[in-house]
Amino acid sequence: MLKDPVWYPLPGNGVPSILMANDKDHSRGRRLLSHAFSSDAVANQEVLVQKYVDAFISRLGEIPLRDNGIVDIQEWFRWTTNDITTDLLFGKPFGCLERLETHEHMKLLKYSIESERLYYITAYFPWTKALLNLMIDQKILEGRKAFYDWVGEQTEQRLSGETQRPDFMTYWLRNSDTGGHVLSCEEIVANNGLIIVAGSDSTANTLTSATYLLLRNPSVMEKLADEIRQLWNSHDEITFNAVSKAPYLSAVVSETLRYVPPAAVGFERRVGEGGAAISGYAVPEGTAVSISAWPAYHAERNFRDPDAFVPERWLGDPQYEGDNFAGCQPFSFGPRNCVGKNLAYAELRLVLAKLIWSFDLELMAQSHDWLKRCRVMTLWKMPELFVKVRGSDQP
Ligand code: HEM
Repeated sequence: MLKDPVWYPLPGNGVPSILMANDKDHSRGRRLLSHAFSSDAVANQEVLVQKYVDAFISRLGEIPLRDNGIVDIQEWFRWTTNDITTDLLFGKPFGCLERLETHEHMKLLKYSIESERLYYITAYFPWTKALLNLMIDQKILEGRKAFYDWVGEQTEQRLSGETQRPDFMTYWLRNSDTGGHVLSCEEIVANNGLIIVAGSDSTANTLTSATYLLLRNPSVMEKLADEIRQLWNSHDEITFNAVSKAPYLSAVVSETLRYVPPAAVGFERRVGEGGAAISGYAVPEGTAVSISAWPAYHAERNFRDPDAFVPERWLGDPQYEGDNFAGCQPFSFGPRNCVGKNLAYAELRLVLAKLIWSFDLELMAQSHDWLKRCRVMTLWKMPELFVKVRGSDQP
């Protein structure tokens, strides 16, 4: 089924990204984009990713000396994934970790994501458009446009620059004249806007959720810290390859993606001509259908103890052998699944491993109810997560 256009507003430049493109344009775009996300490409990108993960750790190491060691770790994860994604896309970081502040354009991105729900309302009820325009903060709509203008400028600068870095653009330029899978400059801008959101927001949200869940479940944190600190003697030993072989770490990542799926709502498809039979129900044509991840992953008929954080279920614990593991698809599946899955897993494992290898963390009292205060607005709107950071070798 094709994606339901109501749920996929066009990017600010009016050109579809692969997320909402029709099947023909999707396969043309996806084939080109995939070059930058293959296992080999991700291995080559490690050098850039490590640079920012190391900056994250070393800047965080300065904190215990200031502010009583207390940080909003959610903001720090966002700085790190923003810097990584913009360097991989545009050949330069946002500079968030250098300045320890959120880049102006990430604030615009926030408005861009939050504005999406307004597009759903006006797409279903066009008469609300004038009313909403009066009621909503224009900053949100202007922010969305400004964000895409900025992505356009950065893309142009990168396209006219040096091309031999192991970043995304190098792979796209190298492969764009083979097999006729060429994308226009405007299509690249639309996809770059998508990749900034998908690549930095979902990854930062997962890291924040993992930190919260680990700190709320001290026995899990202890087991993970033991694995990480026993496996590696030095920071430099913690590589993409090494973290992929740490079983408990991988199980913690899988359980976090189940417990707080970054894409918590369904990604709507529209039933085509003549209707369809779905799970034994006749569904008329034109109906929007989807599977919402949060209820599916917290349903007792799919997972035993669904509201408990149990990484062991992913490691063959017999108590959980009846779990419906195939029903947990945080990256979606099929030809329109997440193209950045390999990179996302590598980044998630690496950041968590280096963080827990280097520091002990403590959840601050004001963040004990953090998950209850998270809201889903297409993607998550997550509040601050305050933790105290202490070097793991400090008394
Ligand atoms: C925890 C991290 C991530 C999660 C949970 C996630 C999840 C998803 C999901 C569920 C989709 C399908 C959306 C739909 O059907 O409409 C998707 C698509 C996509 N994701 Fe991710 N993603 C993550 C990280 C990344 C990263 C790191 C990148 C790139 C740097 C990325 C790039 C994309 C792109 C380009 C698409 C569109 C694919 C297509 O339509 O063919 N994602 N992602």
